[in-house]
Amino acid sequence: MNRKRTTILLILVAFILVGFKVVEELGLHLLQSPGAVIENYQEPDYGLGSGHVDSLMPYPDVKKGERTPFDLWRYAGKGNTSFMNPELPMSWDEWVAFHKKQKPELMKDIRAYMNSRFDFNGEAYPNKFMSGGRNKIMRGPVSRLPKGITSYEELASLSPEEIKERDLFPFKPLAHPLASTAHMVFPDNWNEAHPEHMRIDVDHDYPDEYLPEFPPPMFLSNHKELGDVTKGQEVTISNYYEIFNGLLTPEQMEGLKELVRPTPTTWFNHTTHRVTLEASAGVSCFSCHVNGHTNGAFELSPDSRPHLARLRVGTPSMRGNYNLMQLGSKRSIRSMDHFAEIEEYFDGDPGMMQHIGPRAHQKSVANRMGDFNAMLDFPPAPKLDPLGKLIPAKATEKELLGETLFWGKAKCGTCHYGPAFVDDQMYDLQVERFYKGRPEGPIKNFPLRGIKDSPPYLHDDRLPTLDDAVEFFNLVLELKLSEEEKDAIAEYLMCL
Ligand code: HEC
Ligand code: HEC
Repeated sequence: MNRKRTTILLILVAFILVGFKVVEELGLHLLQSPGAVIENYQEPDYGLGSGHVDSLMPYPDVKKGERTPFDLWRYAGKGNTSFMNPELPMSWDEWVAFHKKQKPELMKDIRAYMNSRFDFNGEAYPNKFMSGGRNKIMRGPVSRLPKGITSYEELASLSPEEIKERDLFPFKPLAHPLASTAHMVFPDNWNEAHPEHMRIDVDHDYPDEYLPEFPPPMFLSNHKELGDVTKGQEVTISNYYEIFNGLLTPEQMEGLKELVRPTPTTWFNHTTHRVTLEASAGVSCFSCHVNGHTNGAFELSPDSRPHLARLRVGTPSMRGNYNLMQLGSKRSIRSMDHFAEIEEYFDGDPGMMQHIGPRAHQKSVANRMGDFNAMLDFPPAPKLDPLGKLIPAKATEKELLGETLFWGKAKCGTCHYGPAFVDDQMYDLQVERFYKGRPEGPIKNFPLRGIKDSPPYLHDDRLPTLDDAVEFFNLVLELKLSEEEKDAIAEYLMCL
């Protein structure tokens, strides 16, 4: 009986093996056929123009911590892997020594690069302040004009093709200055208050005066009468209870607690896979979105690979998120609760969280974080009426001219309208029409309500001031506005 079974089994195995051999020889796969392939496939240029894509270079193969080019927009293509790992490429002592040597040279080169792009001359509008009334609004444009061009009006008189051909575009993307490790980089004023977030490898590349007020005021949609609820304090896990007990519901209190509670991230944690000298408790949502606004910290958007293709993203304000249905510059995530999950903390790699964690929140807790988020209001805009129009008695001639242009000749109102001055869509501004670089594709539109409080502008911080933003749109939308018209629009934006 037993021998008979064994024989049958052996015959079966033999059949299977022969079967495999046949399949292999026929070139068929056992589980899934290979799928259709177009013979002699040739890539169309998809409208980018001849030579555009060919001019892009493959990404350099760099190890964690090694320097990366500042002009990452010149590169394109696929990387070795989508997955990250929790190992350093060397021992912890070597890692610290490596950065001790590299950081001063790197920071010198970052400063030189930033100064070659921007003229941070420290000039501010004399009587224009951010909502907290402490920081002045900086005057621009501070993006430097290309050699041989004497004014922004002269530049705007050229066609996109000519600007691209002669390499004259002043608004190319801004890279994370150390994109091989990347992750969160905090401004100097934050690091002074939170030395535990000082990195051994890289510092912020912007001067503090071109960043938001710190700590910024916090306005709540259910307590307009209180103005800045924090009364000039940074909300942390140590003081949130005292400030908010009696103002919020218990579930909002829990949501807020989770927003200010530090937890580990890819590079701020208790393991040796970190960029702080001491082991760290990590960061909280409010370490970047301080007081529900932003301190100007930047990181890389988690949603692309290879790693070096990830766009630099400055921290957006959470103010007025109750009016936004589209979150994250590339992903169009539809809920704030989703943001409370792991992706930013672990760069879109849940495997890293498994190694370093814990972070993954229960859905109910993430929902409560979203609930508190949804209470954060825009700052007051005393010159606007209920329809978002300037009240003529309160506005200057120049601001009123700016408003007329915004809704007319300058076309801003086509995409920036409604209570938050945003239409909640993603747009492809096709900025690559102006330079040979990897196209950035569609990016989410941002609200202009309260915009004076959150420099630098655009997803990657490439525009230091509102004046730079107006020059950018004048060029990209080919508006051909005069200098006086551009000034008026900038002054109008400060009223929103
Ligand atoms: C680097 C510091 C940093 C930390 C910490 C951080 N964020 Fe963000 N946050 C960002 C950046 C940068 C973006 C923009 C991402 C993008 O454009 O893809 C962002 C985007 C968002 C958005 C979408 C805003 C918009 O206008 O599209 C929400 C909501 C948000 N974060 C909530 C959170 C929550 C909740 C936490 C804590 C769980 C958190 N963030 C922690 C930096 C941070
Ligand atoms: C076609 C739609 C469209 C039009 C028209 C438009 N914008 Fe925008 N705006 C966008 C998008 C999309 C972004 C985000 C782009 C990015 O981050 O790469 C943006 C971003 C901005 C920002 C930066 C916001 C931030 O938080 O960083 C400012 C300021 C701005 N726009 C002002 C203007 C002005 C002023 C005009 C008119 C001169 C204008 N926009 C016209 C779509 C538009």
